[in-house]
Amino acid sequence: MRIAVLGATGRVGRLIVEQGLQRGHEVVALVRRPQTGAVHGRPDVEVRRADVTAPAAFPDLTDVDVVLSALGIGKGDGPGALVAGARVLAEVPVRTLWLGALGSGPSVGAGGGIYQCIMKAFVGEELTEKAAADAIALDGGATVFHAPDLWTGGVSTGRRNIPLEDYAKPLLPPHASRATVAALMLDEAERPTRGARILVPVGRV
Ligand SMILES: NC(=O)c1ccc[n+]([C@@H]2O[C@H](COP(=O)([O-])OP(=O)(O)OC[C@H]3O[C@@H](n4cnc5c(N)ncnc54)[C@H](OP(=O)(O)O)[C@@H]3O)[C@@H](O)[C@H]2O)c1
Repeated sequence: MRIAVLGATGRVGRLIVEQGLQRGHEVVALVRRPQTGAVHGRPDVEVRRADVTAPAAFPDLTDVDVVLSALGIGKGDGPGALVAGARVLAEVPVRTLWLGALGSGPSVGAGGGIYQCIMKAFVGEELTEKAAADAIALDGGATVFHAPDLWTGGVSTGRRNIPLEDYAKPLLPPHASRATVAALMLDEAERPTRGARILVPVGRV
């Protein structure tokens, strides 16, 4: 497959790029600063300039099979990138997988009380933007992943995507490795199980 990765220079996006290549896919990295960052100068990745806050200049993606977004709000950036990114991708006529966070929008409370308190304390007002962006992505037909707290670590062999409505509230705050979430997004890209629904990526760190 030919996959495009938005947020390809980020912590999760970089892992989607690496694992996508390892799985034999052609990877198009969508980055706002092509001259720097993790994918700069790599012969195995096609880089296209893409800043979601400049939608008029967003690159054509009609030659890719699926877009995987690991877009995040950059340090020092103001709010708005997530909603802008969701809007841009909703207009792109390509299947989209969108990474969001457990504990925002429809999954508020799904990670349990302690997890929700942590999210409120550390993610705070960003939760509102995350929910708004997810709603736009879902309306546009994207599959949305509500990842729990993300840690370092390898890909979990017991990984699985659980529809939000089937996700059992855990006693302890849930977490997964970034590598596992990247793998689960690629699993869904390769073998779609859901349309516009929310999946919770699960796997032991
Ligand atoms: N960290 C966690 O524990 C956790 C848990 C659950 C869900 N998530 C969600 O997972 C997503 C990715 O997380 P992460 O930790 O991998 O994020 P990250 O490391 O901060 O990466 C964010 C990516 O978004 C890109 N980006 C920001 N603004 C952009 C713009 N205007 N146009 C194009 N690209 C832009 C950044 O590019 P630059 O390199 O140019 O800045 C970077 O590649 C986030 O939405 C986050 O909420 C994270």
